[in-house]
Amino acid sequence: MDLSFLEQELQTLQSHNLYRSLKEMASPQAKKIVLNGKQVLNFCSNNYLGLADDERIKRAAVTAINEDGFGSGASRLVCGTMSEHVKLEKKLAGFKRTEGALVFSSGYMANTGIISALVGREDVVFSDKLNHASIVDGIILSRAQLKRYAHNDMQALEGAFKTCGPCKKRLIVTDTVFSMDGDVAPLKDIVQLASRYGAMVMVDEAHAFGVLGEHGSGLIEQEGLGDQVDVQMGTLSKAAGCFGAYVCGPKVLCDYLINHSRSFIYTTAMPPACAAAASMAVDIIGQDKQRRRQVLANADYLRRGLKKSGFDTMNSTTPIVPILFKDSLKALEASKRLLEQGVFVQAIRPPTVPVNTARLRATVMATHTQEDLDLFLDCIKEL
Ligand SMILES: Cc1ncc(COP(=O)(O)O)c(C=O)c1O
Repeated sequence: MDLSFLEQELQTLQSHNLYRSLKEMASPQAKKIVLNGKQVLNFCSNNYLGLADDERIKRAAVTAINEDGFGSGASRLVCGTMSEHVKLEKKLAGFKRTEGALVFSSGYMANTGIISALVGREDVVFSDKLNHASIVDGIILSRAQLKRYAHNDMQALEGAFKTCGPCKKRLIVTDTVFSMDGDVAPLKDIVQLASRYGAMVMVDEAHAFGVLGEHGSGLIEQEGLGDQVDVQMGTLSKAAGCFGAYVCGPKVLCDYLINHSRSFIYTTAMPPACAAAASMAVDIIGQDKQRRRQVLANADYLRRGLKKSGFDTMNSTTPIVPILFKDSLKALEASKRLLEQGVFVQAIRPPTVPVNTARLRATVMATHTQEDLDLFLDCIKEL
């Protein structure tokens, strides 16, 4: 088989400044990391609370390895459900104040597995245009009809309901914090529309879990909408600093997913050490309000500084702070120049973001000091 199309495709990406490659990090995930042998200040992880290398989490994982070994050895339904999985699920249900919780091996797998289990050919999914790729892929996999509505536009969502033909089930799905824009979904309006038009609501709290809400459980908690959101999905890989994902909701939802969700059923269970680490992260998140306050205060400080220097931070209100350049090459060059000065911020380009909205996606951590933020602001001002 002639594979020259691979090279041609990559050259096309290069010529449009859309080629992507991996950067190797030779240090733990923290605010300072070692890239290409040089220590740089990290402004692009999702490790918002700085928990990825937290001693308590590392200890919980090591203890679990010593007690339970590393691999889980089987899928959850065969013989891979270990005490650490059950403990984490109980903890998550308590933390999110839901009847049940179910852990998936990753957020990508949770979204694809939940959506494709809940809806099918005779159903319609209403999905925000800026929802994460894993939601989009879940909808494709489900074969349901897709109605994409303009980002956070409730008139567009209502319009989509009005023009929607007959169907069996309706599902609205939205990120609560949008991963590339750092803005939040109008959740109150969404649940109202859902109740008016008889739709289920599913939210993805990947970037809100650990960051928003009085106890850090997410936007649903902040808005007091726990009993109005049917499917609460989130990840353990971002603010929690671990790996994996959860769905929280009624017990019947969890039982249904155990029986229908292919990405839950047909994969090896998460290693018990990951579950033990995540349990510890949930405890820390619940107890440590100060980290949450600090990361939000840091984000406000950075946004104010950027706006003062004339940058467009879009509608961000969370630790995700986009800096809009529009042009991919300009965003790439900005990222390169910042890295030369010891500040690591990735350029995000299409297809991850819509055409003509290339940006730097700066993310702030609770462990960044004012000095770190000022260094970032001084370097970017030079651009
Ligand atoms: C909104 C959102 N949902 C889901 C995911 C997937 O989660 P995971 O990295 O655990 O697969 C991500 C990020 O990767 C995300 O940003």
